Amino acid sequence: MHKSAKIYVAGHRGLVGSAIVRCLQTYGYENIITKSSVDLDLMDQNAVREFFCTEKPEYVFLAAAKVGGILANSTYPAEFIYQNLQIGANVIHTAYKYGVKKLLNLGSSCIYPRLAQQPMKENYLLTSELESTNEAYAISKIAVIKLCKYYNQQYGTNFISAMPTNLYGENDNFNMETGHALPMLIRRFHLAKLLQKNDFDGIKLDLKRRPIGFGINQSEVISQNDIEIERILNTLGAYREKVIIWGNGSAYREFMNSDDSADACVYLMRNKNYDDIGEFVNITSGADILLKDLFEIVKEIVGFRGSIEYDTNKPNGTPRKLMDNTKIQSFGWKPRVHLIDGVKKLYEWYVQ
Ligand SMILES: NC(=O)c1ccc[n+]([C@@H]2O[C@H](COP(=O)([O-])OP(=O)(O)OC[C@H]3O[C@@H](n4cnc5c(N)ncnc54)[C@H](OP(=O)(O)O)[C@@H]3O)[C@@H](O)[C@H]2O)c1
Repeated sequence: MHKSAKIYVAGHRGLVGSAIVRCLQTYGYENIITKSSVDLDLMDQNAVREFFCTEKPEYVFLAAAKVGGILANSTYPAEFIYQNLQIGANVIHTAYKYGVKKLLNLGSSCIYPRLAQQPMKENYLLTSELESTNEAYAISKIAVIKLCKYYNQQYGTNFISAMPTNLYGENDNFNMETGHALPMLIRRFHLAKLLQKNDFDGIKLDLKRRPIGFGINQSEVISQNDIEIERILNTLGAYREKVIIWGNGSAYREFMNSDDSADACVYLMRNKNYDDIGEFVNITSGADILLKDLFEIVKEIVGFRGSIEYDTNKPNGTPRKLMDNTKIQSFGWKPRVHLIDGVKKLYEWYVQ
């Protein structure tokens, strides 16, 4: 990929896409095209065609998707499957039509079977049942991997797919309903810490800056008295003396910094082709953490002095999700950011 190559990063305002743009810029790529979903709705086939026809990108990173945590996935499965199928089909078909040299499609670890043997190797795909809470999302992600595969097979395109593990980092989604696990956790501890300190100005500032979810109108909440604000935060699991967490904390998960994941994506785009990778490659460090331990780390970093209470009536999700790193390691790539350093940096970014 030469330095003046025209590169389209779809989803550049999101966690993954924004990290890819930052990474490309550090490698000296400047001819980067971006469009927000307001300017280009990737669900609109005609708009996508017009965009590719006008811009003629040479390389595409497909990091646009409807993404969310366990609650959003189980509440809105139709939206997850429809939108992600539509975005994938539109972008991949149009990339083929307009002769894109290489496309990198982002999937996620939820494509693997719920009880897949650990660590999960790429060839475990579709070997048994998926996790029911995010099946709709997973099916759409698997379909897009297969789209890339069959376009390569039939049309000789060079469309590759990468499956990062759970990511966190700048521009993460801190919405308490639709956000990712780690940022939602940080926010809950942060709000509980502010409650503990009676810092209602800090709470109002937090609510003013970012949507909270669950149909809660931020301006309405901010105009309430302190007792009412506290009651609303309690419904979100943030109390003065405790933070409530879904499940029992017995599951294991891996978390990778989005800058590491972006570095892997750019590395693959620059150095690897479909013939080297096959259907897809895991982007993983190969090491996970017990969620209970992660909660303690986040509590410590945020500086909340209360306890953690588990709501064991809520689902735990897949018991363990660790991806195998043999393939990505064999390419000579490995992550650099340690989890504790990454969470500290994310909390600083969030507070600022
Ligand atoms: N986050 C993770 O932990 C993780 C892990 C592994 C893989 N991935 C994968 O990485 C990809 C991106 O995830 P993310 O975490 O970066 O999500 P994100 O932060 O929610 O960002 C998603 C992006 O997609 C764009 N988008 C959504 N619908 C669109 C539409 N109809 N038209 C145009 N753009 C649209 C949004 O654009 P606007 O901002 O302009 O609305 C947003 O920038 C997904 O495929 C996901 O499966 C994520």
